[in-house]
Amino acid sequence: MDRILIEGGHRLKGDVKISGAKNAALPILVSSLLTDGWNTYANVPDLQDVHSILHLLTTLGARVETEPGLVRINAGGLCNSEAPYELVRKMRASILVLGPLLARLKKARVSLPGGCAIGARPINLHLKGLACLGAAIELKHGYVEASADTLKGCDIYLDTPTVTGTENIIMAAVLAEGRTILRNAAREPEVESFIDVLNLMGAQIQGGGTSVISIEGVTCLHPVSTRIISDRIEAGTFMVAAAMTRGDIRLLDSQPQHLEALIQKLTLAGAHFKLDDQTVRVTGSDRITSVDIRTLPFPGFPTDMQAQFTALMSVAQGLSIVSETVFENRFIHVEELKRMGADIQLSGNAAIIKGVAELSGAPVMATDLRASASLILAGLVAKGKTEVHRVYHLDRGYEGLEEKFRGLGAAIKRVK
Ligand code: UD1
Repeated sequence: MDRILIEGGHRLKGDVKISGAKNAALPILVSSLLTDGWNTYANVPDLQDVHSILHLLTTLGARVETEPGLVRINAGGLCNSEAPYELVRKMRASILVLGPLLARLKKARVSLPGGCAIGARPINLHLKGLACLGAAIELKHGYVEASADTLKGCDIYLDTPTVTGTENIIMAAVLAEGRTILRNAAREPEVESFIDVLNLMGAQIQGGGTSVISIEGVTCLHPVSTRIISDRIEAGTFMVAAAMTRGDIRLLDSQPQHLEALIQKLTLAGAHFKLDDQTVRVTGSDRITSVDIRTLPFPGFPTDMQAQFTALMSVAQGLSIVSETVFENRFIHVEELKRMGADIQLSGNAAIIKGVAELSGAPVMATDLRASASLILAGLVAKGKTEVHRVYHLDRGYEGLEEKFRGLGAAIKRVK
């Protein structure tokens, strides 16, 4: 299994190009199931999760062609309505095929994703929305079995603004009869860009980026050619890296308007920002100050940046409290950071962090995607060598992270 080796202590400096957003690419690639004919997607990141979703789409009968950064999908041959356990267990976002399969084939059999390292992660709200649209839903042998002769627009309230739940329900509602209103919908930029793409396909959706989304059903959609927005979580990870290594990094092709909560918190922690439309320059200061954060759905502080911010706070001056309100168990990285010398106490859904002057390099284990990034960030400033194991988590969601860090002057390499 691959490991990443890091020799800490280098100031990061230079330009880095931000890749396309994983969480925008996944639902957008899946939305190709709603059309016949060739869809073309540019700026698609080369990630394990993208490979997994393309494999699943092929299994369902879609034709997929790829070249670097570009994916073409034709779902004219969509014939199979089953997403098997072997594929869904690799990536929870596979559940996204449920809505479009139901809309196109009137039936779907999708494996239940099960638990994961960061908590229970139920899909009850996806199912509640689809049932409201008229689907009959049964849970059998570890699978969701859904069917519907016709889907009819309805009024759906989500108890929690679930991201993939919002996307799944929208994909079923776009081809339903009549109007669907989705209340307390997710407002994440990835959801908004996904809605933009569906509208390009001919859908009639209003309210993208707000918590009330109105979908007027249409009879068919047409293929599109579009570009995936840039990854705000990757950009945020480099922002933290600049702050942490007292570096000076220019992020190219990033959209700072998607990261306002993080930028404000990093500014309070002592980092300096120069924002342009598509470029952000982040400069770290000699002193990192402790700042409290609380994760929330967008536009709140993203849970996907919590682990990286926790790593930053572990070397800040003073005491900070990081509260995780989105997922129930998203602090597994804390035990690994402690092995590097961080002083962190967990109390319920909060981490109380007393900044230390220095971390020390150690062998550590990545447990999920963003936890892996936090351990790499810690390794970049730790004294001595850090060895990060189980980096396949990282490959699920960061495109060429170690090459990008190396380009900025980090001493980091992957060994097989
Ligand atoms: C998406 C992102 C993930 C991010 C998360 C929160 C993708 C592919 N993944 O995951 O990177 O960390 O949003 O920003 O876009 N919930 C329920 N019932 C449901 C669905 C969700 O209770 O049916 C709860 C979850 O347990 C969690 C909260 O809602 O506490 C938010 O989860 P959700 O937004 O659904 O996360 P994902 O869409 O899986």
